[in-house]
Amino acid sequence: MNRRPLRTFAYGHPWFYHLVTGISSLPVGGPRRLREFCAQRLAPRLPPQAAVLDLCCGDGAASAPLLARGFRVTGLDCSPQALERAARAYPGLATVQGFAEKPPLPPGQFAGVQISLALHEFHRPARLELLAAALGLLLHGGWLVALDLHPTRGLLGWPQQWFVRLFETDAAVDFLTSNLSADLTLLGYGSVVVETLAMDSLQLVSAQKPFPAPTP
Ligand SMILES: C[S@@+](CC[C@H](N)C(=O)[O-])C[C@H]1O[C@@H](n2cnc3c(N)ncnc32)[C@H](O)[C@@H]1O
Repeated sequence: MNRRPLRTFAYGHPWFYHLVTGISSLPVGGPRRLREFCAQRLAPRLPPQAAVLDLCCGDGAASAPLLARGFRVTGLDCSPQALERAARAYPGLATVQGFAEKPPLPPGQFAGVQISLALHEFHRPARLELLAAALGLLLHGGWLVALDLHPTRGLLGWPQQWFVRLFETDAAVDFLTSNLSADLTLLGYGSVVVETLAMDSLQLVSAQKPFPAPTP
């Protein structure tokens, strides 16, 4: 039995998905601003025209601000329909169909990897696999930036719990109890920084792939 029929409906009806995203992104100023956060953190850390991967890119809404800044952007998603919409809306976006846990891409080729509003779709083992794969895809010194839910007890605590119950899977419930910063450190990322936004209901996490230690 599908315990979250509204989620299924939202994924089958992009207008409804966008309506829900629009309402839930009001605390940060709307969906466009929501999809800008990763690019804002990545851009100052990357050389001009660097290669950037948007993992779980969906219809490309978060790839757009990277493309607008002149980066060479590849969007990966498992959904061919979402990739079709992304390619139509953003002709400059290179699209790859595949699973983010096992990306069909050669290692060490991206200066930046972003994952916007998708980590909560993965249970911890798959999430760790995905984050380890992203580390492998990054160049040394490259940056990962992730935007996602953050557990809040403030004014948005109650709406956040209802949102997760209506629209998200058990993986999101699991994600809200996880410590993303600790997981990134465990996997070998360095310089991990966590910022919280929208009254603590979102987290924007940056982490760097360390340079190899110099050989003596
Ligand atoms: C909530 S949407 C986020 C889309 C986009 N990043 C954004 O900010 O609008 C999550 C996306 O993750 C994709 N996805 C879920 N599981 C995946 C997996 N294992 N591998 C690749 N993509 C996946 C879905 O197809 C969907 O497009």
